[in-house]
Amino acid sequence: MRTAIVYYSMCGNTGYIAGRLAERTGADLIQIEPKKAYPDKGASKFIWGGRSAMMSEAPPLKPYEFDGSRYDSIVFGFPVWASRVTPPIRSFINDNRQAIEGKSFAVFVCQAGNGGEKCINRLRELLGIEKFLAAEIFTDPKDHPSEENDKRFDRFCGKLEK
Ligand SMILES: Cc1cc2nc3c(=O)[nH]c(=O)nc-3n(C[C@H](O)[C@H](O)[C@H](O)COP(=O)(O)O)c2cc1C
Repeated sequence: MRTAIVYYSMCGNTGYIAGRLAERTGADLIQIEPKKAYPDKGASKFIWGGRSAMMSEAPPLKPYEFDGSRYDSIVFGFPVWASRVTPPIRSFINDNRQAIEGKSFAVFVCQAGNGGEKCINRLRELLGIEKFLAAEIFTDPKDHPSEENDKRFDRFCGKLEK
């Protein structure tokens, strides 16, 4: 089964898990970024990103390479923003509706505290699917490494490798 990991990371936590996952599974990494970067410092970081997520925005993305016909499954990875799907992921899904139709999906999200479950449910609704192959929540895994994050990583890989 050929897998693409499509991820957005503002501060590196999601990127850290995406990288480890690619190393472990051999999946292709596809990093997406908005054309206009969100502020990533101070209060603006939360104001602009949070507002964009709450308004369900789908900002234009920088060019990336993705050929849906090459993959059977797609793993989405992104940070939880205001308990919502991070806007660049929404953009990717809107831009690739046809190319990703009928694939299997998995998801991991990174959060600082809570909202991950809501966020995963919102992604499920956005994709119009009943169930993910695997779904996992990490707590700032790069900034705060923990046994719990490692356990969750192994569990997530185990489900993907089935
Ligand atoms: C705009 C914004 C909104 C956030 N909202 C939440 C939230 O609702 N719940 C939460 O636990 N963490 C929230 N966070 C924290 C991030 O989800 C968390 O630190 C994550 O690990 C960052 O991933 P990254 O390093 O890949 O960007 C928010 C961060 C930002 C910038």
